[in-house]
Amino acid sequence: MTERGNFGSKIGVILATAGSAVGLGNVWRFPYMAGENGGAAFIVIYLVCILMLGLPGMLSEFIIGRHAQANAARAYDKLSKGRPWKFVGYLGILTSIIILGFYSVVAGWCLQYLYVALTGMASGNVDAVREYFTDFSGDAMKPAILGVLFILITQFVVARGVRGGIERASKLLMPVLFVLLIIIVVASCMLPGALEGIRFLFYPDFSKLSSDVLLEALGQSFFSLSLGTACLCTYASYFSKDTNLLKSAFQIVTIDTMIAVLAGLMIFPAAFSVGVNPDSGPSLIFITLPNVFSQAFASMPVVGYVISVMFYALLVFAAMTSTISMHEIGTAFFTEEFTLRRRYSAWVVTVAAGAICVLCSLSVGGRSWLQITGVALMDFCDKITANIMMPIGAMLTCLFVGWYIPKRTVYAEFTNRGMTNQRWFMIYLFAVRYICPICILIIFLHQMGVV
Ligand code: PHE
Repeated sequence: MTERGNFGSKIGVILATAGSAVGLGNVWRFPYMAGENGGAAFIVIYLVCILMLGLPGMLSEFIIGRHAQANAARAYDKLSKGRPWKFVGYLGILTSIIILGFYSVVAGWCLQYLYVALTGMASGNVDAVREYFTDFSGDAMKPAILGVLFILITQFVVARGVRGGIERASKLLMPVLFVLLIIIVVASCMLPGALEGIRFLFYPDFSKLSSDVLLEALGQSFFSLSLGTACLCTYASYFSKDTNLLKSAFQIVTIDTMIAVLAGLMIFPAAFSVGVNPDSGPSLIFITLPNVFSQAFASMPVVGYVISVMFYALLVFAAMTSTISMHEIGTAFFTEEFTLRRRYSAWVVTVAAGAICVLCSLSVGGRSWLQITGVALMDFCDKITANIMMPIGAMLTCLFVGWYIPKRTVYAEFTNRGMTNQRWFMIYLFAVRYICPICILIIFLHQMGVV
């Protein structure tokens, strides 16, 4: 077996795991989900899901991964004494490969926008911006090629190993993304009519809630935290023995949530200002942002140019730190279970995800027969992973940690062998034993119309 990598420093741990969590889920998916589901009311439910279900779920994956020090499937297997819990690991690996597939399509769109920002985008007119997106994403070839290119770049980084690629880049670029977001938020909030967007984001109108909102908010919270794909478990297997799991989880959840809210603050004031509908769906950020750059910086075009180029570059980077983590789950699995060279196992993941990427891209690129149960393959993959596979993975993980793994093992990991966090242990245990599984189950049953 090849030697397992390790994250080199504490800050490296946080940044790499936050790098996995922060990505298109925050900047692209969160605003469009919030926009489709009534704004502030959705956000309130989302925050409750993050705190009550996401945080304990993340800790559970950390505990399994760090204790077992192995890839997802073997980690579950090691702790389950012959029982078939390893299937939760398999489920996570499958989920992450599907996500890698459709996520890369959107990442490919970002690459295109980076290119267009660099070469100067013709904008200023809302309809032209919208039309540009429809034409581009509706094309059969180009988006598919860009998506696959994105996966290939990801593989290049992953194949070089955990520390060299992932950690160093995250350390440098994550803080820059944060600062840039704040600048764009300020610019967006100063546009005329922006107040309407801020209101949409912060004044909950619960009467607008539909029955799907609960599941959508649950799905979004898990998607955003990379939860239920065994990704956090795989990353935690590279944590050192003295990483404080509770503190790290708390920091990552805070960073992730802050970036999502900032992304909302960047998009909605601008969307209301230029007249883009908040429920425009997956195209939301792509038809809003170019207007921000051209209108908010109209009097300083050079600043607008620099900021837009930097922003798309960072978006591409944020997407990359997430695709790296999705890729790493499968790569670590094939490397360790089939004693393949890392390079070859990376190829297995790339080919599988690449095929999904091409099909998803075609499903929104004029090949409308590529659909399942009446929805385009792209949306199908998005919904089935976020709303079904991830919550199931997370629920089983909580049950596994709460009821199956010996309590002293869980205690030792949670408290770093009794050194910290003892006070929180009982609360955590209660959450994973009862709150998480029961809430997720109720949300499922509610969606099926049973309760
Ligand atoms: N959390 C990532 C994001 O917000 C997406 C992701 C999902 C990453 C699953 C890894 C695993 O963009």
